[in-house]
Amino acid sequence: MYSEIVPWNVNLATLLELKPKAIILSGGPSSVLEDEAPKPRKEVLSYFLSGKVPLLGICYGHQLLSLMAGGKVSKGNKGEYGPSILKIKKFDLLFSETPPSQKVWMSHRDYVEVPPPNATVLASTKYSKIAALKYDEHIYSLQFHPEVKHTEHGKKILSNFLYKVARLNAVWKIDNITRHVMERVNKEYKGGNILAAVSGGVDSLTAAYIVSLVAGKENLHVVFIDTGLLRKGEAKEVLSLLRKLGFKYVHFINASRRFLERLRGVTDPEEKRKIIAITFAEIFTETKNKLEKKFGSFTYLVQGTIYPDRIESGKVGSNSAKIKSHHNVVMPKLNIKILEPLAELYKDEVRKLALKLGLSKELALKHPFPGPGLAVRIIGEVTEEKLRVIRKATAIVEEELKRNNFYESLWQAFPVLLPFKSVGVMGDMRTYEYVIALRFVISEDAMTAEFAKMKWELLEKIATRIVNEVEGVNRVLYDLTNKPPATIEFE
Ligand code: XMP
Repeated sequence: MYSEIVPWNVNLATLLELKPKAIILSGGPSSVLEDEAPKPRKEVLSYFLSGKVPLLGICYGHQLLSLMAGGKVSKGNKGEYGPSILKIKKFDLLFSETPPSQKVWMSHRDYVEVPPPNATVLASTKYSKIAALKYDEHIYSLQFHPEVKHTEHGKKILSNFLYKVARLNAVWKIDNITRHVMERVNKEYKGGNILAAVSGGVDSLTAAYIVSLVAGKENLHVVFIDTGLLRKGEAKEVLSLLRKLGFKYVHFINASRRFLERLRGVTDPEEKRKIIAITFAEIFTETKNKLEKKFGSFTYLVQGTIYPDRIESGKVGSNSAKIKSHHNVVMPKLNIKILEPLAELYKDEVRKLALKLGLSKELALKHPFPGPGLAVRIIGEVTEEKLRVIRKATAIVEEELKRNNFYESLWQAFPVLLPFKSVGVMGDMRTYEYVIALRFVISEDAMTAEFAKMKWELLEKIATRIVNEVEGVNRVLYDLTNKPPATIEFE
């Protein structure tokens, strides 16, 4: 399904413009009993309850809907957090092909105490008598979270809502996605020179490739800047892929020295990020100016922004294509039109698109890698020596995961070089060397993540190889924190 996230205070006109075929009201941390709780505008709530569009409320959305429809919501003495057993009281399409008793994930304190008049209670748990409500043929709400994977039949319940209750057809499939993305570029591109910066990741390369297919290879100039903060062999691999894909103009700039010089002596993470962003912007602008002298001016800039980038930087809902600033290398203000072919896609859709377009499987399945590169995986000052250590350790981690078929099941998996040394013993010698932390996570979109529960044997093998093969390291740790509270990267 094609879906968009809109803020809770969206106005009715904007909502209707989107022509929603079904609406889900999400959960949230507030309590509907608080005065300042996020409540949609009056006309939007009336539209929700009018039955004109299929509606599903989840958790906070469940409480909000039932309150608005005349039910009573109260604060519980204690919350219900974690797994619960849901018992279906009344069979309904929403639960079709799911068992009468099933495991669901709960996370709430408020609860619906009295259902709205005319609403039917479909299911209960021990602590939530009103765990699923049906208001009319198309309007439902659930106290539990069907969207989390701990809810055993959550995906089935959501697809029942879409296909059986709302009677929608699954149209957002890879063929349609491909067509849609190409049409988007075709509509926006009115001719002229295009500049694209690629990082070596799947997003920027897929974006550039699509633009090259629509606008023609002769109009597209791809710039690839080696910051010196890339992984082992990465620059070479990216260049050979660009050649293989038939890009006509590839401009490779090796700026390693400049980045390293600027980073010398800098230990603060934000300062490091800022320096990298500014240096990148500088080099990119210089490159653009140089190319313009030879090829004429550039009208467009391609960016590999994807939907979660826009969510994280709070740009969702606005139609103006803005430059990704949060979590990415900040692009300079170039007075240029932006082409963002992937702005509506999630990462898994970008990967499918890349495969569909025939980009290499290796690229399509590559883990995300931060713009500031290995600099944020070396805690403290970035030096050539530390880069050597982290590069080698990274290569070992990736090699072992691929060899043991774990790479694809992880969202990201990498070593981090910590800023202190520890005592060890190798042979009969006392050592005093660096410590590496391994960060392996599972995630859908990087907004939340859990640490991967790996087999000890594989971790042991990786740790042993790092200590044996990477000079300067004598200890390896495994990170056991989820996001939140920790972030995926250490800096
Ligand atoms: P955190 O560390 O905030 O990261 O949990 C979430 C995701 O974003 C990636 N990341 C970045 N990506 N430029 C990027 O393009 C950045 O500056 C940056 N910092 C973090 C991180 O690898 C994870 O996938």
